[in-house]
Amino acid sequence: MSEIWIEKYRPHSLSDIVGQDEIISKLKSFVKVKDLPHLIFAGPPGTGKTSAAMALAIELYGENWKQNFLELNASNERGINVIRENVKDFARIVASNDLGIKIIFLDEADQLTPEAQAALRRTMEMYSSTTRFIFSCNYSSQIIPPIQSRTVVMRFKPLKPDDMTRRLQYIAEKENFKIDGASIEAITEISEGDMRKALNIIQAIETSGDVSPARIYEITGMANQEEFKLLLTSAVAGVFEKAKEILDRMLIEEGMSGMDIIRGMHSATRRETMLPPLQRMGILMALGETEFRIVEGASDNIQLDALLAKLVHVGREIN
Ligand SMILES: Nc1ncnc2c1ncn2[C@@H]1O[C@H](COP(=O)(O)OP(=O)(O)OP(=O)(O)O)[C@@H](O)[C@H]1O
Ligand SMILES: [Mg+2]
Repeated sequence: MSEIWIEKYRPHSLSDIVGQDEIISKLKSFVKVKDLPHLIFAGPPGTGKTSAAMALAIELYGENWKQNFLELNASNERGINVIRENVKDFARIVASNDLGIKIIFLDEADQLTPEAQAALRRTMEMYSSTTRFIFSCNYSSQIIPPIQSRTVVMRFKPLKPDDMTRRLQYIAEKENFKIDGASIEAITEISEGDMRKALNIIQAIETSGDVSPARIYEITGMANQEEFKLLLTSAVAGVFEKAKEILDRMLIEEGMSGMDIIRGMHSATRRETMLPPLQRMGILMALGETEFRIVEGASDNIQLDALLAKLVHVGREIN
């Protein structure tokens, strides 16, 4: 198989990262002064957190960047002790660069328990003269306050359609892949600011050899856009049993996760411009609340049932 594009086109310099302008200019200023504070990169998936950390290391250290950059994944390296041992071994070796500091990139830091984070904080202090930590997470609120107060938080945002389009066109050109504007638009709409998702879709469509918005919706399972619309409209129309039936089919037969369903309903709500504005707001509020609860670890099933019940309520109250 040919190389996957998400890796082939991972930005190697800070200037290759699209969007996130404020963050990039701050990172460039760290490169200029050859020093940096501890950082938290917070934001949704596929927005450039790992890429920015790597590009920063490449710009600071040049060819030797890998010797000066340790990437750990909090959810893989089970147990805080493994992480601390890794950090200790890495920090002990004298930096092979003229900055005298090395970078430890801890991915999915929000997966660590508060106790594990507290232990890490001590490790952080022990090696603070020779190392800088970059914590990557989806929500900075999941990082304990003592770590937050020792770091600068940088908030990555979902990429804007224009920025995604620019990057997708650049990649298509490099690959000699002819793709029309409407198809690129379909990709940016489906990926909702997640560049990893956009790259996976554009590569899949290139491989399939048939390029059109319809094909893109089909490949990405967005053919069930209609199904989401039906789920939403049945619930607000008060036909709870029908909505429940669709929901169960999505969960059981189609194997979607709670978050897939929330995202699908969210796009459907944004598309359903015919719904009364107050009703749409009520729906969006209910979706937001459910998303938060699921992220916090509540049960998908119970929360989604409660969501449908809430939507029936919204439909009754606001017409
Ligand atoms: N801002 C961006 N500019 C250009 N390419 C990007 C950007 N963000 C993501 N990408 C592309 O998407 C891929 C995944 O991005 P990256 O690993 O940096 O995301 P992330 O924010 O770390 O996501 P996660 O939270 O899932 O770890 C990269 O290899 C790159 O090709
Ligand atoms: Mg990442």
